[in-house]
Amino acid sequence: MLKIQSLNLDVSNGTDEVSILKNINIELEDNKFYALTGPNGGGKTSLARAIMGIYKATGGKIYLDDVDITDFTITERAKAGISYAFQNPPRFKGLKVKDLLKISSSGEEDTAYARLRAVGLCPQDYLDRECDASLSGGEIKRIELATVLSRPSRIVIYDEPEAGVDLWSFEKLLSLIKKYHLRGGITSIVITHHEKVISLADEIILMAEGEIKERGPREEMWDALKGDFKCRWQQNCGGDEDAVECYR
Ligand SMILES: Nc1ncnc2c1ncn2[C@@H]1O[C@H](COP(=O)(O)OP(=O)(O)OP(=O)(O)O)[C@@H](O)[C@H]1O
Ligand SMILES: [Mg+2]
Repeated sequence: MLKIQSLNLDVSNGTDEVSILKNINIELEDNKFYALTGPNGGGKTSLARAIMGIYKATGGKIYLDDVDITDFTITERAKAGISYAFQNPPRFKGLKVKDLLKISSSGEEDTAYARLRAVGLCPQDYLDRECDASLSGGEIKRIELATVLSRPSRIVIYDEPEAGVDLWSFEKLLSLIKKYHLRGGITSIVITHHEKVISLADEIILMAEGEIKERGPREEMWDALKGDFKCRWQQNCGGDEDAVECYR
């Protein structure tokens, strides 16, 4: 179980300190598939980064299976079984796809290559490509997914796996994510704006303005999401309904 207690994250925007995660309290159970959703800028990626240790929380605690991992480095968290697939995966100039797969799969080449095939990329076309800007957005997302699915994890956070992936492949990638989850002993957290992903979740967590606004079983939360959640665009425009068209 992943337990987050009173987690806060303040960052500097150049002139002021701004609070981007505010008193996050949440417990995420083993074997559950969570959809983390909410408006742009609501804090989803920041929460994922704080769990992975990329952002150092300003306050609060994170426990994995009752072990306090708050002061763990990114590498220590990865070793403890936390994996994060970035919203915008980093590029590594000078590193080939085969090197990246090797690092992430503890040397089990066959598994890593099979994963590359599973995400729809032909190993002979990609193994010697550099993980740099020459790879398209969808290609780098798939390669990253292959690396995440190649290693054993306890907690996997996928940050908008749908981003940049074509319509024809998306359902296939989603079923891979679900299949990996069903191996057991894994907590999957999928950050998403996609209805199809949400429809697969056991629970939906709604984040906005750096806070967890609501969470609950998918069947109950879906109505709440579509219903009375305030339009952020309208709020941003001081409630002027004529100024912008509400996205709902
Ligand atoms: N390092 C940073 N410095 C300053 N502001 C930041 C930093 N990281 C995040 N923010 C701000 O914190 C807020 C939350 O950002 P975050 O990326 O977590 O949102 P999100 O919910 O993932 O949004 P999206 O759905 O667009 O991906 C945003 O207003 C963002 O500009
Ligand atoms: Mg994000």
